[in-house]
Amino acid sequence: MATHLVTGGCGFVGRNMVQRLYRSSNARILFIDDLSVGTHPDTWLGLPVSFAHREMKVYGNDERLYFIHADLRDVLRELNKDPQYFQKRYGLNVALFDDIFHFAAIVGGRSKIDGDPMLVAQDLSIDAEMFLYVCRNKPRRFLYPSSSAAYPIDLQTESNTLKLKESDIDFKKMGEPDMTYGWSKLTGEFLAKIAASHYGVHVTCIRPFSGYGEDQDLSYPVPAIAARAAKKENPFEVWGTGKQGRDFVHIDDVLDLTLLAMDKISDGRAINIGMGRLTSFLELIEVFTGFAGYKPTIKPLLDKPVGVHSRYCDMTWVEENLGWKAKISIEEGMRRVYEAALRKI
Ligand SMILES: NC(=O)c1ccc[n+]([C@@H]2O[C@H](COP(=O)([O-])OP(=O)(O)OC[C@H]3O[C@@H](n4cnc5c(N)ncnc54)[C@H](O)[C@@H]3O)[C@@H](O)[C@H]2O)c1
Repeated sequence: MATHLVTGGCGFVGRNMVQRLYRSSNARILFIDDLSVGTHPDTWLGLPVSFAHREMKVYGNDERLYFIHADLRDVLRELNKDPQYFQKRYGLNVALFDDIFHFAAIVGGRSKIDGDPMLVAQDLSIDAEMFLYVCRNKPRRFLYPSSSAAYPIDLQTESNTLKLKESDIDFKKMGEPDMTYGWSKLTGEFLAKIAASHYGVHVTCIRPFSGYGEDQDLSYPVPAIAARAAKKENPFEVWGTGKQGRDFVHIDDVLDLTLLAMDKISDGRAINIGMGRLTSFLELIEVFTGFAGYKPTIKPLLDKPVGVHSRYCDMTWVEENLGWKAKISIEEGMRRVYEAALRKI
């Protein structure tokens, strides 16, 4: 039986991937999270615990879902010292992983990226341990999620807004990425290329733009705006002028393209994941308040951090080379988020 590893498996992307892999395969799925941000699987898996041992819980009657509550760095340091660690600590017979999806990271949205950059810089240590493990143990395939934050910020200003192309990141001619978060992702992309070329690891990198979905944390703008519209907030607060824009892409599309890319790309090349469409926060508010059936007064909060002015992508490379296009329109995706927000009030 194949065994996949999902790090950060209780975060937004991780828990969606855990559930997708569980539904779409017969594989065993091991997921690790320190729950610093992630939510406990008891609350979202909807499956009984079949047994528990130390900091591990196994879910479902088929015993295919293994959750370990731990700091990934501690687990990887143990594994890097002793490949039999899982066997000795948990009685788990996992010699090698098939696919590793590495979603453990400190992300946290604009307030954390700008407000606590050294906390976010710990992504460097999480990724360093992960890459060392991957190069020593060679899983079948490894997914490294970079981010649109790796792109040079001077290509995302009000006067210089363009659709970001994969080739806009060039290690021989560098622009400045977005804060410590962007630097750590850029470093991860560099390590991914070395893992592929120097160690022969099958590596795929993705640069998701603004992923969103029904079960996303309220510290992210899409669910937060949906929740406030569902409560008919008026005046409606927006960070900055609200004219800043992002490329919102639904989590189901993010997962689809991630899995396709892993089938097709093995050399550490990074691809965009977005709709290729810029939507401002003011437009987002209009969509959600439209669903709620009212027109609020907009109240700009000019002291809040807003990040770059416009961040969106060019999907030409993906369309031409992978034949992929996002399936879930902004209107449909946002409608799903709004309906989920309504159910919560
Ligand atoms: N969501 C998006 O739209 C998006 C966009 C670009 C890039 N990404 C990347 O995808 C990955 C996942 O993002 P997300 O949105 O799910 O973030 P998230 O914050 O929801 O999930 C990250 C998870 O990692 C866990 N974690 C943090 N440090 C850990 C540690 N030391 N040990 C174990 N677990 C730890 C957290 O508890 C959390 O559950 C990140 O690398 C992020 O940079 C996501």
